[in-house]
Parts: sequence; structure tokens; C-alpha cells
Amino acid sequence: MTDVFRVMQLSDTHFLGDGAIAEGGFAYDTSEAFDAVLAHAGRGAAGADLVVVTGDVADHGLPSQYRHAAEALGNFDLPVNICPGNHDLDATFTATLGRPGLSTTRVIEAGVWAFLFVDSNAGGMETDESGRQVDPQDPLERLHRNGTLGAREMAWVRDMCDTVDAPNVFVWVHHPPAPRVPMANDPDYSTEWAALLAGLPQVKGFGAGHTHIPDVYEFHGREVFVAPALKHCFDLENKTWLPPGYRTFEFGADGSVASELHLVEDDRWPRNLMGTAIVSLFNGELTFDELAEIVARRQAQ
Ligand SMILES: [Fe+2]
Repeated sequence: MTDVFRVMQLSDTHFLGDGAIAEGGFAYDTSEAFDAVLAHAGRGAAGADLVVVTGDVADHGLPSQYRHAAEALGNFDLPVNICPGNHDLDATFTATLGRPGLSTTRVIEAGVWAFLFVDSNAGGMETDESGRQVDPQDPLERLHRNGTLGAREMAWVRDMCDTVDAPNVFVWVHHPPAPRVPMANDPDYSTEWAALLAGLPQVKGFGAGHTHIPDVYEFHGREVFVAPALKHCFDLENKTWLPPGYRTFEFGADGSVASELHLVEDDRWPRNLMGTAIVSLFNGELTFDELAEIVARRQAQ
């Protein structure tokens, strides 16, 4: 590799099947948002060496949604590697996304860097009668879940950090640890990561998604970079919607990480003010069920 390894990160693409409309029109058309991002970055992904997608690839884990995702992501002229989010389902995710140029591999080494693709849904998996780890029977259990690593995934992270050759490790994962979004901040998940980081000085940072609120903050001395989403995207500080977008990263030979946020500014995605109920949801003052009740009441009026 040259001195710098470059990555383009997409997250929360939430691809739908043909003709499906996201959340009754409340969300962006993710195909339209993806096409805009692709046009903005170009098929060469803004000069990147690798495209990373950090989960919620499909909106509901359906095979047709993954086929659509694979077709769209296949437009890049460089390798794309993908890890799952809580909207993905393990069997369909694994069976449908791998093809030449597109992979769901878990470790990629590039010079002085090793990239781990961690499954932050692993702690919610169940053991079937054959001993295999599978998704819970009720897909909604996964859909609404916060991050959870569990003992197996934590042991895997330690094992990979010990085994890779590279002196620097960067974690790609759907759920960011300790996000600055109260609704998405699960202290148990942050505790899992804090315990891991205490013994893994080679881990230099995180690239994540999940919140649909782009951000950069510090967690136990590491920078956490949160990508924008394609489904809907927000600025919780200024309480506005944001256009869809992506992040670019430069991984230096000296172990440094630099990242830039790119939003696709366009009249289709104005920075309208967020509704007070949505702000309350993100701030942890309303549950999803309470929000759904409010929406239903308003629609009935
Ligand atoms: Fe998402």
C-alpha cells in the first residue's frame, strides 16, 4: 500500500424492494439517496481503496432488498465490504451479499492497518438445536435491538487483535459505543467495549452508523466516527433534517485516522426543522410505541 489507505464509508442504506415506499413517505427514497451518493463520490468512491458499509443494509432483511443492495453496491469500481446492523437478518445477509467485488468478510489487513468488521448483534443471537448461532424467531426482536456483543464476539475481537500482523486496528461496527444520542445509548453495550479496549491498545478508533445522526466523539481515548444514513438523517444539535451522505477516511502509516463527512446538498433534502416528537424520541423522552400513538392520533384528526 501507499502511505495512506483510503476508505469510503456508507451506512444505514436501508434498501427496499422494487417500488416500495419507506415508512409511508416519512423516510427518504433510499434508492434515490444511494444514486445521489454514488454520483457525488463517483464509481471510484472519491479515490478510496475500499468501500465499507456499516449495516442496516436492507430495511427488513428481505432477500429482494439484499438483491437490490448488491446490484446498487456493485456499481463501485473497487471492493466493497459489509457488516450487519439490527435491520439485517443473519441468514439472508450472509447468503445474498457475497459476490465478486462484494463481501461480508470479517477481517481485512492493509499494510499497518487491520480492519475488524464486528457484529454488534451477536449477543442477541440464539443457539439452535444443531448448536449454530441463529437470529431470534421473531425478527422484530432484532429490528428494535440496541448493540450487544456477548461473550463470543468479545472473545473473537480479542483473538483477532492478537492474531493480525498489523500494529493498528480499526473497528467497523453498526452500533457505536456510547453514542451522544440518548435513545441509542445502551450502557451495557458501552461497558462491553470499555472492557475490551482496556486490554487492546492497538484499537485506534471506530467507524459506525445506526443513529442516523453523523457525529465524531471520543470513547476511552478513541475517536468514534458516526456516518450519515440514506433513509433519514438528522442534526440533533440544531434539530434539523440532514441530506443523505457518506464519510471518507484516511488511515496513515503512523497509525493516525482522519475522517471527513460528506452530505449531498440538494433541494430534495432540505434542512427542515425536526418535529418535537422526533426530537423527544432521540432524546429518550418518548418510546417508539408512544411516538406511534402520537402519529396515529394526528392522522385520525
Ligand atoms: Fe438504520
